[in-house]
Amino acid sequence: MGLKHIPVMVEEVMAFLKCETGRTYVDATLGGGGHASEILKRTAPDGALIGMEWDEDALAEAKNVLMPFGDRVKIFRENFIHLSDLMKAESVDGILLDLGLSSIQLEKEGRGFSFKGDGPLDMRMDQRMNHTAAHLINHLSLEELEYTLSLYGEERWAKRIAKAIGQEREREPIRTTQTLRKIIHHAIPRRFYSWRIDPATRTFQALRIRVNDELENLRKLLETGWKILKKGGRMCILSFHSLEDRMVKETFRTLEKQEEMRVLTKKPVTPSEEERKKNPRSRSAKLRCAERI
Ligand SMILES: C[S@@+](CC[C@H](N)C(=O)[O-])C[C@H]1O[C@@H](n2cnc3c(N)ncnc32)[C@H](O)[C@@H]1O
Repeated sequence: MGLKHIPVMVEEVMAFLKCETGRTYVDATLGGGGHASEILKRTAPDGALIGMEWDEDALAEAKNVLMPFGDRVKIFRENFIHLSDLMKAESVDGILLDLGLSSIQLEKEGRGFSFKGDGPLDMRMDQRMNHTAAHLINHLSLEELEYTLSLYGEERWAKRIAKAIGQEREREPIRTTQTLRKIIHHAIPRRFYSWRIDPATRTFQALRIRVNDELENLRKLLETGWKILKKGGRMCILSFHSLEDRMVKETFRTLEKQEEMRVLTKKPVTPSEEERKKNPRSRSAKLRCAERI
């Protein structure tokens, strides 16, 4: 397929997961299989990996990359909220969650995640979902749109953007990434443009989170996922925006108070300067890890 995803903070993640021969791990967000193949290399010859991924394109890439590891790998096309059910009574040595988008999704035309090219406003990570971003944009009430943009995008111009969307969709439905981008550009006063990010970034993030129910999925996984860890087993979570990171931090803290988990990262671990330079996508990454006690 030609699109590659560079895994983030591989050495840091592997160290926290304590990958050793014979151990069993879950990678709940396989993506392009980068972290998963490192786990399998480091647990050779008999370590096992259970992988989850809900996106058809990413799944195809992961299957390809993980083929050499044969029956040490089991892959499921599932939302990771079903992890505990999938594992039944089996327990594991570690769980990895690498949230957000892979480059395979971001860069593929037609998926609608990026506003660099033009294409349909889709944004579904799992192609089996019913509602696309276009559906939300054209059908949510303006109050709900404003709420979505300010909650998930922390967009201070949410009201103005929602109003502009309302005006445009009265004329005709909004269907493409470039149409939406232009509406946002007009809605935000030019003097408030950031030199760092495109004015459309926050709106696109908010829509993506809402289309895929990302925070709700994370909340559900955090609620039960840790229960499948063996004593001493670890959960590592890489997040890419503050809403996710806050949720991980707070859940780990609560589990520590309940004496279920011990937090190993009092502060989140972030990528080295060298990695940030090599892989700009890594810049916003935060890694947190906790151990089952
Ligand atoms: C950042 S990528 C993972 C990259 C991977 N660690 C690698 O090294 O290639 C995140 C992946 O998680 C998947 N994903 C996000 N939410 C999911 C969910 N609720 N269930 C299953 N997969 C999910 C996305 O489709 C995406 O492919």
